[in-house]
Amino acid sequence: MRVFVTGASGWIGSAVVDDLLAADHEVTGLARSDASAAALAAKGAHVRRGDLDDLDGIRDGAEAAEAVIHLANKHDWSDPAASNAAERAAVQTIGDALAGTDLPFLLASGVAGLTQDKPATEDDASPFHGPDSPRGGSENLALEFVDRGVRTVSLRFAPTVHGTGDHGFIARIAAVARQKGVSGYPGDGTNRWAAVHRVDAGRLVALGLEKAAAGTRLHAVAEEGIPTREIAQAIGRVFDLPVTSIAADDVQDHFGWIGTFFAMNLSATSTVTQEVLGWTPTGPTLVEDLDAGAYSAR
Ligand SMILES: NC(=O)c1ccc[n+]([C@@H]2O[C@H](COP(=O)([O-])OP(=O)(O)OC[C@H]3O[C@@H](n4cnc5c(N)ncnc54)[C@H](OP(=O)(O)O)[C@@H]3O)[C@@H](O)[C@H]2O)c1
Repeated sequence: MRVFVTGASGWIGSAVVDDLLAADHEVTGLARSDASAAALAAKGAHVRRGDLDDLDGIRDGAEAAEAVIHLANKHDWSDPAASNAAERAAVQTIGDALAGTDLPFLLASGVAGLTQDKPATEDDASPFHGPDSPRGGSENLALEFVDRGVRTVSLRFAPTVHGTGDHGFIARIAAVARQKGVSGYPGDGTNRWAAVHRVDAGRLVALGLEKAAAGTRLHAVAEEGIPTREIAQAIGRVFDLPVTSIAADDVQDHFGWIGTFFAMNLSATSTVTQEVLGWTPTGPTLVEDLDAGAYSAR
């Protein structure tokens, strides 16, 4: 299949591209820099130079493809509204380009905010609608295209897609611990985070491309929920730092923007996903990764 991948040079995208190429798909990756273009070309992928804001380029990439996997995100935590607007515009553009084709459109999403008091499941619809909601309401917008003849599949990644080289949320929490000289956890540290290893996440996306039906919500989740206190304890072990509770009122001040997420319950299951795809996560757990030096050997 000719697959157009945005975010192909990213943490998850680069694993996805490896899996797609290994499965003999023809991959075109969106690249906005020479370095990203060179990395993609070195793997044997085609390159489409462009930016998320170049909607004509995104449309052309989608129209030339037999499937789109949208993983790019600006991730500007100082201006989430701008990131969300770009995300929504890209999803609208890709959906319009694929309308009436029945071709696959897989897009990145997450599990934050899906549920409050229980682990999120694939059956929990996203409550986020419209441009002012998290991620610009992109999951629901993309799913609306199912009725317009697009095989939309949502890829809900765990809040940590971990492994050596990760620069995401756990790397940020570890950086805060090193800056502050203490590995903190919010409150009593019983709120939980789901997790998945990057290699398992990449494999899930490639399987989703081949097997998931229109309208499917897939959970890239290997571990349902690790208490944040255990995450902080592992970070404390590897950096030889004391571990302590951070009172709810001090979480924002202590952790900065990542505090909002670290204080949330972000647990989720993947029972349906595992059945639908025949996907069994095999990678190390988050704590195994931390203890093995995935976040400290640099
Ligand atoms: N990692 C996680 O734990 C996690 C958890 C939940 C959801 N997600 C979602 O999964 C997706 C992939 O995440 P990731 O961790 O792989 O992110 P990442 O490593 O930060 O990669 C982001 C990708 O987006 C590209 N990009 C950023 N701004 C762009 C722009 N203006 N125009 C075009 N491309 C742009 C980057 O290209 P460059 O190489 O040029 O920078 C890179 O390829 C994102 O939507 C993310 O929100 C990730």
